[in-house]
Amino acid sequence: MAGVEFKGVWKRFGDVVAVEDLTLEIIDREFLVFLGPSGCGKSTALRMIAGLEEPSEGTVSIGDEVVNGVDPRDRDVAMVFQSYALYPHMTVYKNIEAPLLTRPMEPPDGGAPRKLTKEERAVKVKEAAAILGLEAYLDRKPGALSGGQRQRVALARAIVRRPRVFLMDEPLSNLDAKLRTQTRLELVELWRRLGITFVYVTHDQVEAMTMASRVAIIAEGRLQQLGPPQDVYERPANLFVARFIGSPPMNTFDAVARPAAGGMVAQAGAAVVPLPAGLGVSPDQAVTVAVRPEHLHITADGPLDGIVRSVELLGHEQHVIIEVSGELMVIRQPSEEPDPVLGTTVRLSPELGRLHVFDQASGLRVE
Ligand SMILES: Nc1ncnc2c1ncn2[C@@H]1O[C@H](COP(=O)(O)OP(=O)(O)OP(=O)(O)O)[C@@H](O)[C@H]1O
Ligand SMILES: [Mg+2]
Repeated sequence: MAGVEFKGVWKRFGDVVAVEDLTLEIIDREFLVFLGPSGCGKSTALRMIAGLEEPSEGTVSIGDEVVNGVDPRDRDVAMVFQSYALYPHMTVYKNIEAPLLTRPMEPPDGGAPRKLTKEERAVKVKEAAAILGLEAYLDRKPGALSGGQRQRVALARAIVRRPRVFLMDEPLSNLDAKLRTQTRLELVELWRRLGITFVYVTHDQVEAMTMASRVAIIAEGRLQQLGPPQDVYERPANLFVARFIGSPPMNTFDAVARPAAGGMVAQAGAAVVPLPAGLGVSPDQAVTVAVRPEHLHITADGPLDGIVRSVELLGHEQHVIIEVSGELMVIRQPSEEPDPVLGTTVRLSPELGRLHVFDQASGLRVE
């Protein structure tokens, strides 16, 4: 068992900076998710843990050991990819057994690493198969399995050696929506049972929100925020995170902070939105105000006004899209609410305590 630590890690490919000055401690036995848009450097960070890429600068440690330069096979980690290449001509049993044959390992009764006997391997294969619910398929070949079953074989093959750290790079992206949901639950269950560190890469925020102990949000090679999913959702550290997390995304508008009778307000054109008391903004500071669709409501006397452009009915809720000063804002409300009439002007009230305010110049959250 082991945590993983990045210290001042850079990875450059020629002129491209894939990972920029990453310092991050992944705690032993946590489920850490790297989340970010395509090309932000998630896979590169993961591959540096696996040893498939070497940092250009900085150190990567697993447990107490700096692993720069250590052969991937000697890192005691396992990795599952999106394209979980199984051996097509071998049975599920043989596929899971394969990693036990490549290298010596510590025998079940302790002692120096050696080649395991056939019986010892059988115990481990059956254990891994049982954990992934594959006992009934051990004699089949991958071609005779569904996509989800194949993915489970890849997971079983990865855990059969009981690695210290389990790395996964978008392992669910080849599965259909229903199977993805189910496999998400299974992965969390697997993590609980194995009691080892999981590091998981995805660009899917639902995966991150539902599985992670902590999520590390990356953009353009830089760590933007690290924290439990709920914290990141409730207190985004900067505008990137605010706009990236949440679906539909946060509504934002640019404004200027002004002192007023009751405290500070955000002024955007003719609209004046009160800001929460005690917020660290100064008069005339350029800010971006953000509010989630569920915290914006149609009211008779709201400070913002806009024209109803469309209503999306989703069964349990509806999304009302409203054009406010040329920008689209989304309101998320229960489907019981009356449908606003397209083309009419409505007034909008953000919930005061739910406003997020960011400094426009730096993009950083203002507390
Ligand atoms: N071997 C390589 N040679 C050159 N550039 C690379 C190499 N590997 C990655 N890059 C570049 O580094 C950046 C980060 O790539 P990476 O694969 O880590 O992104 P990612 O976040 O995993 O994206 P995706 O979600 O699309 O998989 C990209 O700009 C990519 O083009
Ligand atoms: Mg990737």
